[in-house]
Amino acid sequence: MKKFLFTIFAMAITLTACGQSNNKNTEDDMKTLVAYFSATGTTEAVAKDLAAVTGGTLYEIKPEVKYTAEDLDWTVKTSRSSVEMQDRNSRPAIMKDLKDADSYDLIYIGFPVWWYTAPTIINSFIETYGFKGKTVIFFATSGGSSIDKANTEFKAQYPEIHWKAGKTLNRASITDIKAWVDSLR
Ligand SMILES: Cc1cc2nc3c(=O)[nH]c(=O)nc-3n(C[C@H](O)[C@H](O)[C@H](O)COP(=O)(O)O)c2cc1C
Repeated sequence: MKKFLFTIFAMAITLTACGQSNNKNTEDDMKTLVAYFSATGTTEAVAKDLAAVTGGTLYEIKPEVKYTAEDLDWTVKTSRSSVEMQDRNSRPAIMKDLKDADSYDLIYIGFPVWWYTAPTIINSFIETYGFKGKTVIFFATSGGSSIDKANTEFKAQYPEIHWKAGKTLNRASITDIKAWVDSLR
């Protein structure tokens, strides 16, 4: 009887231990990339903090041709950014220098909100590397607009990606970023 009870006890301990390891936050074990596009440095600063918080690899999404101040003038209909954003099929050329893209399980992608959504250079980045079956989470900076439209549009456009809702991180402190990252687990 004693032996029987001990066996049951040992089995319970083993099952509990297995349960704990299965419940362990998988994101802690996921290889993380923090990729960002930033035309004027605001998103870059947040991306650096996010990389520090997550321990992820920081990577800048670089346009082949940099955006000038004139390119970024949204008050001019014919400026480069206006033209690109009016044509949602535009795919600005990017540097293809991300190494071992397939090795990342969790990819944060940051950008400035342009015309209430993500700049089409983000489409260029996603279509260059695919990220099929990977977890992708957006983050953004903006003058006040939300990231919701980008979340919805990209989820519909790239259903092969496992999306988690992104967030605008305007003036976010390290503490804010850490709280957000923890909330995603
Ligand atoms: C072409 C263009 C369009 C923009 N559209 C919006 C917008 O729709 N909503 C908003 O809140 N901010 C908008 N902004 C402001 C940027 O999102 C904001 O300044 C951002 O923090 C810049 O990030 P960056 O320095 O990383 O480029 C726009 C800026 C540019 C250049």
